[in-house]
Amino acid sequence: MPKKILAINGSYRRGGVTAQALAEALAGAREAGAETETVDLPEIDIKFCTNCRACTQTPGEGRAACVLEDGMASLLDKVDAADGLILAAPVNCFNVTAVTRRFMERLVVYGYWPWGMAAPKYRITVTGKKAALITSSAMPALLGRVFTGAVRALKYTARAVGAKVEGTLFIGLAGMKEHPELTAAEKGKARALGRRLAA
Ligand SMILES: Cc1cc2nc3c(=O)[nH]c(=O)nc-3n(C[C@H](O)[C@H](O)[C@H](O)COP(=O)(O)O)c2cc1C
Repeated sequence: MPKKILAINGSYRRGGVTAQALAEALAGAREAGAETETVDLPEIDIKFCTNCRACTQTPGEGRAACVLEDGMASLLDKVDAADGLILAAPVNCFNVTAVTRRFMERLVVYGYWPWGMAAPKYRITVTGKKAALITSSAMPALLGRVFTGAVRALKYTARAVGAKVEGTLFIGLAGMKEHPELTAAEKGKARALGRRLAA
Protein backbone atom coordinates (compact mmCIF):
# COMPACT_ATOMS: atom_id res chain seq x y z
CA MET A 1 0.00 0.00 0.00
CA PRO A 2 1.42 3.43 -0.90
CA LYS A 3 1.92 5.80 2.02
CA LYS A 4 -0.59 8.60 2.36
CA ILE A 5 0.96 12.02 2.80
CA LEU A 6 -1.33 14.88 3.72
CA ALA A 7 -0.14 18.47 3.33
CA ILE A 8 -1.77 21.17 5.42
CA ASN A 9 -1.04 24.57 3.92
CA GLY A 10 -1.47 27.63 6.10
CA SER A 11 -0.25 30.14 3.49
CA TYR A 12 -2.68 32.67 2.05
CA ARG A 13 -0.74 33.01 -1.19
CA ARG A 14 -1.13 30.64 -4.08
CA GLY A 15 2.27 30.25 -5.69
CA GLY A 16 4.03 31.97 -2.79
CA VAL A 17 7.23 30.77 -1.18
CA THR A 18 5.50 28.38 1.19
CA ALA A 19 3.26 26.90 -1.50
CA GLN A 20 6.24 26.37 -3.81
CA ALA A 21 8.25 24.61 -1.12
CA LEU A 22 5.24 22.48 -0.29
CA ALA A 23 4.75 21.53 -3.95
CA GLU A 24 8.40 20.42 -4.17
CA ALA A 25 8.14 18.39 -0.97
CA LEU A 26 5.00 16.69 -2.27
CA ALA A 27 6.73 15.92 -5.55
CA GLY A 28 9.53 14.32 -3.52
CA ALA A 29 7.02 12.25 -1.56
CA ARG A 30 5.43 11.05 -4.80
CA GLU A 31 8.87 10.15 -6.17
CA ALA A 32 9.23 7.92 -3.11
CA GLY A 33 5.96 6.20 -4.01
CA ALA A 34 3.49 8.03 -1.76
CA GLU A 35 -0.02 9.26 -2.54
CA THR A 36 -0.42 12.93 -1.70
CA GLU A 37 -3.24 15.33 -0.92
CA THR A 38 -3.17 19.03 -0.03
CA VAL A 39 -5.60 20.94 2.14
CA ASP A 40 -5.41 24.74 1.96
CA LEU A 41 -6.50 26.04 5.36
CA PRO A 42 -7.82 29.40 4.03
CA GLU A 43 -10.34 27.44 1.95
CA ILE A 44 -11.77 25.33 4.78
CA ASP A 45 -14.61 26.38 7.07
CA ILE A 46 -12.87 26.30 10.47
CA LYS A 47 -14.58 28.05 13.35
CA PHE A 48 -12.66 29.51 16.27
CA CYS A 49 -12.28 27.29 19.33
CA THR A 50 -14.51 28.72 22.07
CA ASN A 51 -12.46 27.20 24.93
CA CYS A 52 -15.58 25.39 26.13
CA ARG A 53 -13.45 22.25 26.73
CA ALA A 54 -16.41 19.94 26.27
CA CYS A 55 -14.08 17.77 24.16
CA THR A 56 -11.40 17.46 26.85
CA GLN A 57 -13.44 16.17 29.77
CA THR A 58 -13.27 12.40 29.24
CA PRO A 59 -10.12 10.26 29.06
CA GLY A 60 -9.44 7.94 26.15
CA GLU A 61 -7.34 7.32 23.09
CA GLY A 62 -7.39 9.47 20.01
CA ARG A 63 -9.46 12.55 19.49
CA ALA A 64 -12.75 13.50 21.05
CA ALA A 65 -15.69 15.11 19.25
CA CYS A 66 -15.95 18.88 19.05
CA VAL A 67 -19.33 20.54 19.57
CA LEU A 68 -18.75 22.89 16.62
CA GLU A 69 -19.99 21.84 13.21
CA ASP A 70 -17.70 22.83 10.35
CA GLY A 71 -15.01 21.38 8.12
CA MET A 72 -12.68 20.44 10.97
CA ALA A 73 -13.93 16.90 11.66
CA SER A 74 -13.47 15.75 8.06
CA LEU A 75 -10.04 17.40 7.94
CA LEU A 76 -9.02 15.59 11.13
CA ASP A 77 -10.30 12.29 9.67
CA LYS A 78 -7.73 12.85 6.91
CA VAL A 79 -5.04 13.75 9.44
CA ASP A 80 -5.72 10.57 11.43
CA ALA A 81 -5.67 8.40 8.29
CA ALA A 82 -2.39 9.83 6.96
CA ASP A 83 0.99 8.11 7.36
CA GLY A 84 2.76 11.43 7.08
CA LEU A 85 1.97 15.12 7.31
CA ILE A 86 3.58 18.16 5.80
CA LEU A 87 2.71 21.15 7.96
CA ALA A 88 3.42 24.41 6.16
CA ALA A 89 2.86 28.03 7.12
CA PRO A 90 4.76 31.28 6.62
CA VAL A 91 5.68 33.66 9.42
CA ASN A 92 3.27 36.52 9.96
CA CYS A 93 3.81 38.77 12.97
CA PHE A 94 6.49 36.50 14.45
CA ASN A 95 4.46 33.31 14.31
CA VAL A 96 2.53 31.11 11.90
CA THR A 97 -0.44 32.69 10.10
CA ALA A 98 -3.70 33.31 11.93
CA VAL A 99 -5.51 30.68 9.87
CA THR A 100 -2.92 28.13 11.02
CA ARG A 101 -3.32 29.12 14.65
CA ARG A 102 -7.10 28.84 14.35
CA PHE A 103 -6.55 25.26 13.13
CA MET A 104 -4.04 24.59 15.93
CA GLU A 105 -6.41 25.72 18.67
CA ARG A 106 -8.98 23.22 17.45
CA LEU A 107 -6.47 20.41 18.06
CA VAL A 108 -7.51 20.59 21.70
CA VAL A 109 -9.77 17.64 20.76
CA TYR A 110 -6.59 15.51 21.06
CA GLY A 111 -6.16 16.56 24.69
CA TYR A 112 -7.47 15.33 28.04
CA TRP A 113 -8.07 18.32 30.31
CA PRO A 114 -10.95 18.00 32.73
CA TRP A 115 -11.89 20.99 34.86
CA GLY A 116 -9.74 20.88 38.00
CA MET A 117 -6.62 19.72 36.14
CA ALA A 118 -3.94 22.43 35.78
CA ALA A 119 -2.70 21.54 32.29
CA PRO A 120 -3.77 19.26 29.43
CA LYS A 121 -2.28 15.87 28.59
CA TYR A 122 -2.03 14.63 25.04
CA ARG A 123 -4.33 11.67 24.44
CA ILE A 124 -2.17 10.35 21.59
CA THR A 125 1.30 9.35 22.67
CA VAL A 126 2.63 6.96 20.04
CA THR A 127 1.67 6.63 16.40
CA GLY A 128 3.81 5.71 13.44
CA LYS A 129 2.94 9.04 11.84
CA LYS A 130 5.75 11.35 10.72
CA ALA A 131 5.71 15.06 9.98
CA ALA A 132 7.76 17.47 7.90
CA LEU A 133 7.59 21.17 8.76
CA ILE A 134 7.93 24.02 6.27
CA THR A 135 7.97 27.71 7.03
CA SER A 136 9.24 30.95 5.47
CA SER A 137 9.98 34.47 6.61
CA ALA A 138 11.27 37.83 5.42
CA MET A 139 14.10 37.65 7.94
CA PRO A 140 16.99 35.24 7.36
CA ALA A 141 16.19 31.65 8.30
CA LEU A 142 18.55 31.58 11.28
CA LEU A 143 16.91 34.67 12.79
CA GLY A 144 13.49 33.28 11.94
CA ARG A 145 14.25 30.09 13.85
CA VAL A 146 15.39 32.05 16.91
CA PHE A 147 13.06 35.07 16.96
CA THR A 148 9.76 33.67 15.75
CA GLY A 149 7.45 31.05 17.19
CA ALA A 150 6.80 29.39 13.82
CA VAL A 151 8.83 26.21 14.24
CA ARG A 152 7.61 25.77 17.78
CA ALA A 153 4.00 26.15 16.63
CA LEU A 154 4.41 23.61 13.84
CA LYS A 155 6.13 21.20 16.25
CA TYR A 156 3.23 21.56 18.67
CA THR A 157 0.83 20.80 15.83
CA ALA A 158 2.70 17.62 14.93
CA ARG A 159 2.88 16.53 18.57
CA ALA A 160 -0.82 17.10 19.18
CA VAL A 161 -1.82 14.70 16.40
CA GLY A 162 0.80 12.12 17.37
CA ALA A 163 3.34 12.74 14.61
CA LYS A 164 7.11 12.63 15.06
CA VAL A 165 8.99 15.43 13.33
CA GLU A 166 11.22 14.06 10.57
CA GLY A 167 12.66 17.38 9.42
CA THR A 168 12.16 21.12 9.11
CA LEU A 169 12.71 23.45 6.17
CA PHE A 170 12.93 27.16 6.98
CA ILE A 171 13.18 29.47 3.97
CA GLY A 172 14.46 32.90 4.93
CA LEU A 173 14.73 36.17 3.00
CA ALA A 174 11.43 35.24 1.42
CA GLY A 175 9.74 38.63 1.35
CA MET A 176 11.65 40.36 -1.44
CA LYS A 177 9.59 39.64 -4.54
CA GLU A 178 5.93 39.84 -5.44
CA HIS A 179 6.37 36.75 -7.59
CA PRO A 180 9.11 34.78 -5.83
CA GLU A 181 10.84 31.68 -7.14
CA LEU A 182 12.65 29.22 -4.94
CA THR A 183 16.34 28.74 -5.62
CA ALA A 184 17.52 25.38 -6.94
CA ALA A 185 19.02 24.67 -3.50
CA GLU A 186 15.73 25.41 -1.72
CA LYS A 187 13.83 23.23 -4.19
CA GLY A 188 16.32 20.43 -3.64
CA LYS A 189 15.98 20.63 0.14
CA ALA A 190 12.17 20.62 -0.07
CA ARG A 191 12.17 17.64 -2.42
CA ALA A 192 14.59 15.70 -0.23
CA LEU A 193 12.42 16.40 2.81
CA GLY A 194 9.36 15.05 1.01
CA ARG A 195 11.24 11.93 -0.09
CA ARG A 196 12.44 11.34 3.47
CA LEU A 197 8.95 11.70 4.86
CA ALA A 198 7.61 9.10 2.45
CA ALA A 199 10.54 6.68 2.75
C1 LIG B 1 1.07 40.54 7.59
C2 LIG B 1 2.47 40.03 7.42
C3 LIG B 1 3.24 39.82 8.54
C4 LIG B 1 4.54 39.35 8.40
N1 LIG B 1 5.30 39.20 9.52
C5 LIG B 1 6.58 38.78 9.39
C6 LIG B 1 7.40 38.62 10.55
O1 LIG B 1 6.99 38.87 11.67
N2 LIG B 1 8.67 38.23 10.36
C7 LIG B 1 9.19 37.95 9.12
O2 LIG B 1 10.36 37.59 9.01
N3 LIG B 1 8.41 38.04 8.01
C8 LIG B 1 7.13 38.44 8.11
N4 LIG B 1 6.34 38.55 7.00
C9 LIG B 1 6.89 38.12 5.68
C10 LIG B 1 6.43 36.70 5.28
O3 LIG B 1 6.78 35.76 6.26
C11 LIG B 1 7.11 36.24 3.99
O4 LIG B 1 6.85 37.15 2.95
C12 LIG B 1 6.67 34.84 3.60
O5 LIG B 1 7.57 34.32 2.68
C13 LIG B 1 5.30 34.80 2.97
O6 LIG B 1 5.04 33.48 2.59
P1 LIG B 1 4.14 33.16 1.31
O7 LIG B 1 4.95 33.52 0.10
O8 LIG B 1 3.85 31.73 1.40
O9 LIG B 1 2.91 34.02 1.42
C14 LIG B 1 5.06 39.05 7.10
C15 LIG B 1 4.24 39.24 5.98
C16 LIG B 1 2.97 39.76 6.12
C17 LIG B 1 2.14 40.02 4.90
